[in-house]
Order: sequence, then structure tokens, then C-alpha cells
Amino acid sequence: MTDYLDTHKQRFLDELLELLRIPSVSADSAFKDDVRRAAEYVKEKLLAAGLDKAELYETAGHPVVYGEKIVDPAKPTVLVYGHYDVQPADPYDLWQTPPFEPTIRNERIYARGACDDKGQFYMHIKAIEAMVATDGLPCNVKVMIEGEEEVGSDHLGTFVAQNRDMLKADVILISDTSIISNETPSLETGLRGLSYVEVEVTGPNRDLHSGVYGGGVANPINVLCDMIASLKDENGQIAIPGFYDKVVDLSDADRAELAKAPFDLDEYKRDLGIAEVAGEVGYSTNERTSIRPTLDVNGIWGGYIGQGAKTVLPSKASAKISMRLVPDQNPDEITELFARHFTAIAPPTVTVKVTPHHGGLPYVTPTDSVEFEAASRAFEQAWGKKPIPTRGGGSIPIVALFERELGIKSILMGFGLDSDALHSPNESYGLFNFYKGIETIPYFYKNYAALKQ
Ligand code: BES
Ligand code: MN
Ligand code: MN
Repeated sequence: MTDYLDTHKQRFLDELLELLRIPSVSADSAFKDDVRRAAEYVKEKLLAAGLDKAELYETAGHPVVYGEKIVDPAKPTVLVYGHYDVQPADPYDLWQTPPFEPTIRNERIYARGACDDKGQFYMHIKAIEAMVATDGLPCNVKVMIEGEEEVGSDHLGTFVAQNRDMLKADVILISDTSIISNETPSLETGLRGLSYVEVEVTGPNRDLHSGVYGGGVANPINVLCDMIASLKDENGQIAIPGFYDKVVDLSDADRAELAKAPFDLDEYKRDLGIAEVAGEVGYSTNERTSIRPTLDVNGIWGGYIGQGAKTVLPSKASAKISMRLVPDQNPDEITELFARHFTAIAPPTVTVKVTPHHGGLPYVTPTDSVEFEAASRAFEQAWGKKPIPTRGGGSIPIVALFERELGIKSILMGFGLDSDALHSPNESYGLFNFYKGIETIPYFYKNYAALKQ
């Protein structure tokens, strides 16, 4: 195995770079053909890795790539999930090198999707190739790589429901999350859910001269800002009635356990260029970004934003707002609570419209399962250190859906770093992480086959 990985190192990287050159931006229809091209590329590589079959499955949106190799029906089956779509690369001018011309600098691969998630799911294809080419697969493997994760996996629920038998497996293995650092490997045991809404506030029936009407007519931008400001109280708590009703509070013991993860607040602030952190009173930064729900404005617009100055009192103002959710909050319920509250607090001078976008359920995975044990030991074997269980802050909505539709739990064996700049300009993925991941994954299969007996 070690020999095989060493011998084919350069080719593994070259293949990933080729995949990174395909701008598979799922959010933007201008890239529709590129998204399909990426799917075709993944299918080819699954076949080349030695799977018995691999195909594109059409959905109402971008295609799903699915392949499998059944070595022995009596052996356990691992379903690998990942996504070949990427976030839009804008703003382009902030990239040191173009987002779809992958470049290696300081032992890192710079490109959109380098870590999220092309670099991470590609490790699985190479690990499978290496196992097939050397000792053989210890487990059956099914691989499902989708193309709509970054836009909410809207059509994946239908796909999963329609292909229950095909997707039948004992565990789902996903590399699409982060570790604490390369010195401190960790395994995420939870993901946050998501409720995402767009709001529009309308005042007068047209844009007005801000001198002629200003002072006498409510300005929708000012009103929107006031409304948004009122959504949190002085303790950083979200002021939507019922918002916390279903939040599961962790026991002091669980909080103490999570607090064992090393965290350097000064380093965190330095990395982000901030003088101070912010958040809910009574919780640490780690807790604020994992076990507690949030409300954040993701975008806000209205009025004049062109060159120079235009004196205008706008007719409309809008914002996109996301709420990260924790167990047992339900995205549909939270969206409903938000809409009701936001409408209720609107002053009589404006009307508001709330449009829901995608959402997702939060997820926690047990740490006392053979699946978790197999992953934990894999890290120990490849990294020489036991991974620390952590709760993640991001969302992968399909994970809760897998559990609901298929009754299968997921193992979040990510190898990225929070500093890889996912969704940001200059996203990157360490060569160390890419190769270490390929080395770690086969241990999981071996451990799992042994433990599952
Ligand atoms: N891979 C991320 C999620 C992630 C990142 C989890 C880091 C844990 C650590 C995923 O691709 C992502 O960006 N998800 C979206 C979900 C959304 C588009 C529905 C997110 O979290 O914003
Ligand atoms: Mn991802
Ligand atoms: Mn992402």
C-alpha cells in the first residue's frame, strides 16, 4: 500500500488538478455544461479506480455520479458521499492566481474547490484505487458524488428516496469537514442545520428625492436595519419568540469534554485580523460556532450603490439572512417563526415579504459506534494520534436526510482546515492533507471490516 501511494503520488495530484480546472459552479447556470463535464470526469475516474460500474444519474438539476464495487455481499458496505460542485469564485480580483487555474504554492493547492470538496472526495477515489490495486477492498464500496451540495441539495432527497435499494449500506463516509490542525487531528460528531431566508421591505411606491420627501417618509433601508438590529438582544441572543424552544442544552460534562480541544484565541484573532471576538454571552468561541444557533445577515442591498452620490430615498431594501441551527431545531419551524416575527415587528410605514430559501436539519453522530471507532483508529494509525471529537459549525443538509431516508449514520472524516478559506478567495488545500487523507482512508476500511464482524 505505502509503495503504491508513493509510486503514484504525482499522478494522483495531476488528476486532481485537472478536476479543479473544471469550473463546476452549481449556483450559476452559465457553468451548467462545466458542471456536467466535472461529473463525467468523476465517473471516468471511478471506473479507472476499479469500480464495477459508474454512471451519471439525471435529476431535475445537476447529475449525481454513482458507482459501486461489491466484492462480497457478506461484507459490510461503505457508502462514500461527496460533492463535485463548487461555490462561485467571485470576487475574482481578490485571487492571487485564477480560481480555476490550480497553482501549487507553499505546499498548498490553490483553487476553488481545492478543499471543498474536490480535493477531499478525490482522496477517496485514490484510496479505493490503491486498495483495489494492492490487497483488495476489505468492504463493499458505493460512491455517490453529487453536484448540488453548494445550492442546498434540492434534488438529492428525491434521488435518495427513489434509489433506496441501490444506496443500501452500513455506513456513510464523508470527507467534507475540517480537523483542528495538522498537529491535532479530530473527528466531527455534528453539523449545524440551516434556515435561509430573503426579506424585502417596501416603503413608498417609488424611489423619492431624499430632500423633497426625506424626514417625512420612512426609509426602507433604515427600517430594515432597525428590524435586523432588533433580532438580537444585548447578550447576543436571538430575539425571535420560540427560537430556542427546541435547542438541546449540553450538560456541563459534555461542555467540559468539548472544551478539551486546543484553541488559541489570540491566534484566531490574528488570523482573522480582528481585535475582539463577538457572540452570545456565556459561551466560548468554540461553543458559539458549533453547539449554539446563529443569525447572520449574508447580504444586504437597496438604494444607490453606484459611483458618486445620488440623493435618493429608496422604495425597497432587501437582505439575505441565514440561521445556523442545532439539535433539535427544525428548519421549517424556524423559518416559520422568523417569518411570523419579522412581519410582526414591521412598523406600519412599510410592508415586508419573507421568502424562504433552502434549509437543512442539524446532525449529531454517536461516538460509541463501531463506525466511529473504525474512523478514530484510522487516524491513530495514520497520524499517530487519537483524534479529538468536535462539533462542527457548517452544514451538510443531506447527512440528516440520509439518516431519515436510509436509516444510515454518517462518519465525518474530514481532512480540511478552517484556514483553507472555503467559500473565500484563495481557497487552498494542503498537499500534506491530500496525501495523508489517502493514507488514512484504507485504515478505516480495514478497521471497519474487522470490527463489524
Ligand atoms: N463542506 C461544507 C460544510 C462544512 C465546512 C462543514 C466546514 C464543516 C466544516 C459544505 O460544502 C457547505 O459549504 N455547506 C453549506 C450548506 C448550504 C449550502 C446548504 C454551508 O454550510 O453553508
Ligand atoms: Mn463541502
Ligand atoms: Mn461548501
